[in-house]
Amino acid sequence: MSPPPPRVTVIGIGADGWDGLGPVGREALRTAEVVIGGRRHLGLLPPECEGERVPWPSPLRPAVPGLFAAHAGRRVCVLASGDPMFFGIGRTLAELLGAERLRVLPHPSSVSLACARLGWALEETEVVSLVGRPSATLTRELYPGRRLLVLSAGADTPAEVAGLLGERGFGPSRMRVLEQLGSERERCVEGTAEAWPHPPGDPLNVIAVDCLPADGARRLSLTPGLPDTAYDHDGQLTKRHVRAATLAVLAPAPGELLWDVGGGSGSIAVEWTRAHRTCRAVSVERDPVRAERVRRNAAALGVPGVTVVTGAAPGALAGLPTPDAVFIGGGLTAPGVLEACWSALPPGGRIVANTVTLESEALLADWYRRHGGDLVRLAVSHATPVGTFTGWRQAMPVTQWAATKPLDSQGPGAYAADPAGSVEAAQGETR
Ligand SMILES: C[S@@+](CC[C@H](N)C(=O)[O-])C[C@H]1O[C@@H](n2cnc3c(N)ncnc32)[C@H](O)[C@@H]1O
Repeated sequence: MSPPPPRVTVIGIGADGWDGLGPVGREALRTAEVVIGGRRHLGLLPPECEGERVPWPSPLRPAVPGLFAAHAGRRVCVLASGDPMFFGIGRTLAELLGAERLRVLPHPSSVSLACARLGWALEETEVVSLVGRPSATLTRELYPGRRLLVLSAGADTPAEVAGLLGERGFGPSRMRVLEQLGSERERCVEGTAEAWPHPPGDPLNVIAVDCLPADGARRLSLTPGLPDTAYDHDGQLTKRHVRAATLAVLAPAPGELLWDVGGGSGSIAVEWTRAHRTCRAVSVERDPVRAERVRRNAAALGVPGVTVVTGAAPGALAGLPTPDAVFIGGGLTAPGVLEACWSALPPGGRIVANTVTLESEALLADWYRRHGGDLVRLAVSHATPVGTFTGWRQAMPVTQWAATKPLDSQGPGAYAADPAGSVEAAQGETR
């Protein structure tokens, strides 16, 4: 048996550079034959580190296997920012090389340093990274009294965050921008979001936000069943009470992927994705105007990562990554939609289909007969004025079929050709 390949030492380094490293990290760097890292990090090494310095290629991820194969058998160190396992290169290396090949020496992360400066308890601070993510992501985290730490993408991020807070009704929030944490150039500037006074500063910064709403700011819970007025819609919207009941049976769990077939205004995909920051959803909508509306609603409600596929099911489902759950809110009578969704589900996957028409209801009754599950009728009435009195106004009753694919069944089938694929990959192909 051949010996295991030598471990790669991944060393977290702060803005204080070499001075801030511990003895173990310094020794590893002094004796390394190869040091891989960003140019800025490599520039922090003193001359006594004589190993070959290799800057990361771009794009980084696809180059990683070849890069480490090229230096096989040599003592390799990787330099990373702060804690390599916190929004850092450590994750990529663990995924591509295997965790057992890594020896990680963390430095305090920018978030730990910021909490130290602010006197904030780390476990009560919400951390949001805007590196490579739109600022709309923050919307999901805005609650009165919450403390947020935002990892900036660069010098312009503080003004962007200030703008977003203002748009979302959190203009009075206090913002502090902590730059170059741990270095001699460390500084903190502050102001309120609605009157952010500072020009762009240092690109290395984190933003501390004390969330404070303006009078009348919208209050949007993370629990499903947001008010219908939270959505821009043309009437094609699963209404609040039915939506809450639907999300309850869809039962999102962290990391899971939903197909929202017949996206309409996107409310099911949006509330699935709001359930946990690792939940993902693909909304499939045949009407391009509505598809665009799904995108806007997703961004406005803090989940801009919802993938929107413009196209009609079942054709538009081809090649999407395997879902954990499927919701069918439109297109039930289109030939092959139910079959495609059912066959795409893995064993244990959930399907939920809603309809208000007799034609689709007949279909659901047939699937209920064949596959079991729950067939439910949801009838919601609202009290409305009747002259000077009040009476019930009944919304169209919704028939809902919900089922779980048996654990001993076959799946996923032909419509999930890419079980390991990412939603992003699917987005690129189908948009
Ligand atoms: C009742 S709405 C769904 C409402 C949605 N759940 C929401 O809350 O916004 C039905 C939607 O399905 C879309 N649709 C109908 N047939 C479709 C198909 N075969 N593929 C994709 N979308 C379809 C319609 O354009 C419409 O927007």
